[in-house]
Amino acid sequence: MSREVKIAPSILSADFARLGEEVKAVDEAGADYIHIDVMDGHFVPNLTFGPTVIQSIRSYTDKPFDVHLMISPAAPYLADYAAAGADMITVHAEADIHLHRNLQVIHDLGKKAGVSLNPSTDESVLENVLDDVDLILVMSVNPGFGGQSFIASQLGKIARIRGMIGDRDIELMVDGGIKPSNIAAAREAGADAFVAGSAVFSGDDYHATIGALREAVKES
Ligand code: DX5
Ligand code: ZN
Repeated sequence: MSREVKIAPSILSADFARLGEEVKAVDEAGADYIHIDVMDGHFVPNLTFGPTVIQSIRSYTDKPFDVHLMISPAAPYLADYAAAGADMITVHAEADIHLHRNLQVIHDLGKKAGVSLNPSTDESVLENVLDDVDLILVMSVNPGFGGQSFIASQLGKIARIRGMIGDRDIELMVDGGIKPSNIAAAREAGADAFVAGSAVFSGDDYHATIGALREAVKES
């Protein structure tokens, strides 16, 4: 497989008291993107942080900020996340009525536009926006918490979306429960980019874990 593998540590599982240092540490450990989970206690049953915190950690790395918005509605806040330093802004297909408009707005803000699907959401919602997205984020857990188990039924969805993408320049990312033991299956299904939260931050050696994830993919 020639598509480049990207590893995106999710700072959801980082030490929030030392968030800037944690971002720097995963950057130096080989992260391709910094995955930033924004939760509103409404779309998902958990709360994290908003644009002010994102802006405060922006100076700790030059790696792209991959901002995953688990908020509903997302539309009123897109400009705030762009201004805070997001490079990629991903909205959920389930979160707003006007998905296409959100993607247009994100592009108008000069950012890469992503769409995420909950495990129960059918990939057919992507059909009419395939020419308007840079990133598709398949949730392999129900969003809201780190440390959950990978939902294997999402492998079939990843494979079907890979087929839908065809030769378009769209990154296919998987988020939730990714570990060295299952990343190869997600890669074989067709994912390019892998979010890993608890797998990276639960150990002391971020470099070793990110290396183990890359190694597991290479062996597939
Ligand atoms: C879940 C978040 C994920 C989460 C992944 O709602 O979107 O990014 O941090 O954490 P792990 O890798 O522990 O499942
Ligand atoms: Zn996420």
